[in-house]
Amino acid sequence: MSARIIAAAGILLLAVTGAAIAADKDVSVPPMATSLKPVTDFAGIKDRKARSVALFEEVGKVLQHPRCLNCHPRTDRPTQTDAMRPHMPLVVRADTGMGAAGLRCQTCHHDRNYDVAGVPGNPKWQLAPAEMAWQGKTLGQICAQLKDKSRNGGKSMPEMIHHMAEDELVGWGWNPGGKRTPAPGTQAQFGALFKAWADSGAVCPVR
Ligand code: HEC
Ligand code: HEC
Repeated sequence: MSARIIAAAGILLLAVTGAAIAADKDVSVPPMATSLKPVTDFAGIKDRKARSVALFEEVGKVLQHPRCLNCHPRTDRPTQTDAMRPHMPLVVRADTGMGAAGLRCQTCHHDRNYDVAGVPGNPKWQLAPAEMAWQGKTLGQICAQLKDKSRNGGKSMPEMIHHMAEDELVGWGWNPGGKRTPAPGTQAQFGALFKAWADSGAVCPVR
């Protein structure tokens, strides 16, 4: 192959990836929280509804963290890094969430983080289904979605609490490997906040 053809191919590749990045540029990264308040901090809010909303806003510091949003995208392509850039290379959800036949998630993502190559990993690594998209949504919208069995994988509230507090893929958010910023607090704190929210009536923020 002549140098000219190689150069042309390179420019074409750049053009294609450049266009893909441009298409997803409007993904905004919410401010990243670094800690979570304990449930006891909310006891002082006498109004039950207001307390419930405040608890969910605390829960939202995790839900809207890049560690979670990157895998709950609004398109069928994950995003990556703290800046939530479109996933490189281009991979898609496909039918199962595990990627298209030629490029499955498991080709690169294994059972655990592989820091030598900077690739995060978990036994359950795959893209969240489209109905569980959180990117670009307000906390109120995410909240309503989490309570809706037709969009939360058919989970009851107790199952949802268990998922938040115990699921190992959710847990990866606090052990993301590489230079990724972990989700704020601990998974146990997060689970306790979510349960306290459910126990206080599971009221969603208006926005
Ligand atoms: C590697 C991708 C990935 C990451 C990272 C990820 N999730 Fe998910 N999430 C999924 C998949 C896949 C499902 C659907 C399968 C299931 O329910 O386990 C899901 C489902 C969920 C659900 C249940 C359904 C719903 O209503 O959305 C919740 C809650 C959830 N994730 C929370 C989180 C939280 C909190 C974080 C960050 C701490 C997180 N996820 C990070 C892939 C991911
Ligand atoms: C060709 C290899 C490859 C394939 C295939 C692949 N990934 Fe990745 N993925 C990577 C690498 C490398 C990174 C780390 C990039 C970085 O942090 O700079 C990454 C990072 C991510 C992240 C970002 C984690 C974070 O919070 O920063 C998510 C989410 C993700 N991949 C999901 C997926 C999903 C879902 C699939 C399948 C549909 C998939 N990946 C397929 C190589 C791959």
